[in-house]
Amino acid sequence: MRELELPDVQDVMLEYRKIKLLYRSALKEIGTKLEILNDEFKLVHQYNPIEHIESRLKTDESITRKLIRKGKEITVENIQKYIDDIAGVRVICSFTPDIYRIVDMISSQDDIEVLKTKDYMLNPKVNGYRSYHLIVRVPIFLSDRVVPTKVEIQIRTVAMDFWASLEHKIYYKYEGNTPEYIKKELKECADLVTFLDSKMLAINEEVRSIREENKE
Ligand code: GTP
Ligand code: MG
Repeated sequence: MRELELPDVQDVMLEYRKIKLLYRSALKEIGTKLEILNDEFKLVHQYNPIEHIESRLKTDESITRKLIRKGKEITVENIQKYIDDIAGVRVICSFTPDIYRIVDMISSQDDIEVLKTKDYMLNPKVNGYRSYHLIVRVPIFLSDRVVPTKVEIQIRTVAMDFWASLEHKIYYKYEGNTPEYIKKELKECADLVTFLDSKMLAINEEVRSIREENKE
């Protein structure tokens, strides 16, 4: 049976390669939009809300695994329909209010359609994970048609990103069976990150108000 299924999957992935251009282009579109917003924000408010931006295309292997995990047949239609994070952009901000500023600025653009949002800032996951996730659709203009294309945007602070990258590594190391005491320690670190983010924000506000006073 397996020998019969395998070439099918390869055919599908070959076909999928033709639409990969869309996702690659969507990453560029979103990346440019974010850079423009950051530059404009810098002009108006004298600081960059975005520390840096990372983007990636999901690997073919990871796409196939995700469809199997979701119990879906491997077809190009299913890839487009069920995988929201083929194109993924991560926006790393300085302070928590910057996250919502970016969310509002991106969501209100006319050509952006917000399909889904998950506010793990307001509702952190039990493990302590905090970030804001958006699934958006952006139009990609080809020679003869326009194709709305999905992008997953994850927005978080530098401190949250530091936590998430370590948590992700540990999760993979234990193949999802992280021992309870490590989970507990990671949760404690997540709480420290929350504290750190609010403390750093308070210091920043303080410094800003002193600067404003001196201007007057
Ligand atoms: P997948 O996890 O991608 O299947 O999608 P989902 O429907 O669960 O969406 P969700 O928005 O919860 O997560 C999307 C992505 O956010 C993940 O693929 C990770 O990159 C990141 N993420 C979500 N939860 C965690 C977490 O607990 N820890 C870390 N490090 N990253 C997370
Ligand atoms: Mg998940």
